[in-house]
Formats: sequence, structure tokens, C-alpha cells
Amino acid sequence: MIYNTLFTGKFLIHEPSMGSTNTFAQDVISKTKPIDGTVILTDDQCQGKGQAGNVWQSEAGKNLTCSVIYDSSFLEVKHQYFLNMTVAVSLVEALAGFLDVNALSIKWPNDILFNNRKLGGILIENSVQGSFLRHSVIGIGLNVNQAVFNELPHATSVMIETGTHQDIGNVLNAVCENLERRYLQLKANGGPKILNHYNELLYKRGSLVTFIQGSDRFKAVVLGVDQQGRLILDQNEETTAFRFGEVKWQYEYNK
Ligand code: BTN
Repeated sequence: MIYNTLFTGKFLIHEPSMGSTNTFAQDVISKTKPIDGTVILTDDQCQGKGQAGNVWQSEAGKNLTCSVIYDSSFLEVKHQYFLNMTVAVSLVEALAGFLDVNALSIKWPNDILFNNRKLGGILIENSVQGSFLRHSVIGIGLNVNQAVFNELPHATSVMIETGTHQDIGNVLNAVCENLERRYLQLKANGGPKILNHYNELLYKRGSLVTFIQGSDRFKAVVLGVDQQGRLILDQNEETTAFRFGEVKWQYEYNK
């Protein structure tokens, strides 16, 4: 159980192995009335799900793979991206306790980077009731003690970057504490403030970057992310907003 929180992780399901903590959490939601803030944790996630149908690979016993169930019925569907930003910002804040904060950033939409390498990912799955969310499953994968990433040349871990082994329980505590603090801020109409923090932490903000759209490749300056979670790019003084999936970074780190 997690100590420095009001409700996040007070009820914790910890299994030595499972397919996906997100799938397990969905199952909990469909079969019971879940306790708000329930955390599902596993040491060996063998069928981890990533963004856009990708697989999330994680060596057994080395990393943090968990899901948090929140009752997100206060949040309108049109504001759902505030939740993604809340989680991303809170993960950077949690990791700042273990790594140099200046090297941490958020690569739109949801990747946590250390310099140019991927340290963690987020997969949020929402259920909806009318124009509001009902439950959110917040899946978090952080590379903590893994030393080798054979098929993932752009991945890194806290251990690789610091040379120090970390207790995964301590990382989970930091994650839950920071997540809950920002989540409560979101609940108290703090979405716009969280968006500002997200933009401050945005990878390549103000830089010229190559993007891929269909079969086209183009260069644009990253301006920021808007309330709807769209990436705002400046191409030759023309501003365009892109939804997730409409444009890709030339370099992806999870493949
Ligand atoms: C990404 O592709 O960057 C998102 C990765 C999310 C991985 C985490 S690990 C815990 C949780 N359970 C899953 O099956 N996926 C998420």
C-alpha cells in the first residue's frame, strides 16, 4: 500500500505476473464497483499494451508496470486530454526525484523522455457516460532497473542514466503521490494550469523538427499543445493543429 496519498494506492492489487495491468483493471471495473484510486501492479507484465496498438515490452522484475483506476466522472469528454497532461506532468515530477529534471521532457502526446531516449509511456483508457467520463484506467510503464533494451535502441532506464539501482516500490510511491496531487488539481478546475506545465515540459518546444504526414515529410517549429491535446506546429509562419495520429514524429522511440 502507498503511504503519502489520500486515496491513490490505498487499495493495491499486486500480482507476480499478468498479461496487462490495464486489461486487469478493466476487468475489475466490469465486475465490481472499484474503489477510487485502486492500483494494479505486476512484476512481470507479459502482454503489455502500448499506444496505437503497439506492444509494451518490459523485462520481468526490473520496471514499474501499473495501472491506476480513477472515478473520472467529473471530467467532460471534451476535456479528457487534460487527464493525459495531468499524468504526464506528474510522472516527470515523480522522476525528478531520481534523475536530473533538466533532461526530462514530455514528447507529445504521452512519452516521457530523458534527453532523447524514452524512459516511460502512458496508456489511458476511458469509459464514457453521456458527455462525461466514467472511469479512467491510467496505465504507466516506467523503465527503472532494466540495463539492456535489445530491440529498442531509443529506450533508456533510470539505472542506465544514473548507474544506481532503484527500489521499484519507492518509484511507485513517488508516482502515486505526484499523480494524486496533480489529479486533485485537475478536479479543482486546474486543467489550464496543468496545460501550462505540460507545455513547459514539452520536448522540442521552439525547435524545428521533421514530421511525417501520410507519405509526406515536412519541417515545422513545435509551438505547443492546446486544450484539446492537439500539437500546434508552425510551418513557414502558418499555424496548424494536429490530433494524435494525424502527424508523426520522424523518430519514434517505442519501435
Ligand atoms: C506507450 O506506448 O508509450 C504506452 C505504454 C504504456 C505501458 C503501460 S505498462 C502498464 C500499463 N499496462 C499496459 O498494458 N500498458 C500500460
